Amino acid sequence: MIKMGIIGFGFMGHEHANMLATLPEIALRAVCDVVPDQLVDAPEGVETYLSADELLAKADVDTVILSIPNDIHLEMVEKAAKAGKNILLEKPAAMNVDQFDKMVEIVKSAGVHMTVHQQRRWDVDYATMKEVLAQGLVGKPYLVKSQLYGFNGNMHDWHIYPEKGGGMLYDWGVHLIDQIIWMTDERPVSVYADMKNVINANVDDYFKIIFEYASGLTAEIELGTYYLTPKRAWFIGGTTGSAVIDGTFRAQGNTEGQIVRTRHLLESVPGRLTMTSAGPTRSFGEPEPGLLYTEPLPDVHTVHRDFFVHYIAAREGREPDAVTLEQVRYILTVMEAVRQSAATHQAVQL
Ligand SMILES: NC(=O)c1ccc[n+]([C@@H]2O[C@H](COP(=O)([O-])OP(=O)(O)OC[C@H]3O[C@@H](n4cnc5c(N)ncnc54)[C@H](O)[C@@H]3O)[C@@H](O)[C@H]2O)c1
Repeated sequence: MIKMGIIGFGFMGHEHANMLATLPEIALRAVCDVVPDQLVDAPEGVETYLSADELLAKADVDTVILSIPNDIHLEMVEKAAKAGKNILLEKPAAMNVDQFDKMVEIVKSAGVHMTVHQQRRWDVDYATMKEVLAQGLVGKPYLVKSQLYGFNGNMHDWHIYPEKGGGMLYDWGVHLIDQIIWMTDERPVSVYADMKNVINANVDDYFKIIFEYASGLTAEIELGTYYLTPKRAWFIGGTTGSAVIDGTFRAQGNTEGQIVRTRHLLESVPGRLTMTSAGPTRSFGEPEPGLLYTEPLPDVHTVHRDFFVHYIAAREGREPDAVTLEQVRYILTVMEAVRQSAATHQAVQL
């Protein structure tokens, strides 16, 4: 039985408490927040504390979830490790690689376990598209695209302050990069990135990131918080088909997709001329009826709770960590390369 405490009982702290209630192997014993109002709906029977130091000193917990703003992850890891607690740290683990290296040194010398909550590896749209690649369902892939467009624009609370670790690269970027990097066995050789502050004065709210791979694959991530056409989608283009999935965040039924194949490629060049509303074209007219056909995507079932199922298995020694410190460090190095590329308008070798 893991005896858990949660430090930082805001949005994510509450999400964690709800999730832990579904896991008999973890007992939530204590929660802490510096804002008393955040503690008023703490689950019954769970101790509440107004300071992390007090929770760490008094609560009967062996592990803590750290769900506090990004700028205090390092100091909180240090406190928790010194108190001998295992750590489940929220993403982004650290603001930079240097901070993360300090954390790893601290947890290693304290002899405590630490991993990071990258639960979006268990997003069903992502896991389905990863399976498309694993099964070679579109042949040799030339393009993987991950898109996330929102309509709200404004970021909230501490996310609007760069010094607190605000901005979308730290917020969603770390998930989207983590997903695309672990989608294939190959690591990219270079990255090019464009980052913008579209309607937020001080933090990024748009980015496009392009990874190039030695195999010829290109992977692209585009996120915009002020795209008035909300959408979450993936596209994979390969030599034997295209796979698409629409995972747009709706209240219900949020994934639809397919693999599209062609019965034959253009057989002669120049191709057949088609007249379209945009004028004559040999390449981009409508397909002749029956040329394209679809197949279902693989049937993949994952939920974020699976992160915790694997977490528990790793803590019980039945599996290695699903999210390793080496992986987390690599993603942070990629994020630094993304910022460097955006600042210099140059591709950065990885
Ligand atoms: N994995 C995910 O999908 C996901 C989603 C959202 C947020 N997060 C991460 O979770 C962390 C928290 O984000 P959030 O959206 O829950 O923020 P939040 O502002 O809703 O909650 C943070 C809480 O920490 C409290 N806090 C601040 N300083 C503290 C301290 N010294 N001791 C104790 N409590 C303190 C705040 O009062 C607040 O209630 C961030 O690292 C964020 O990136 C992860």
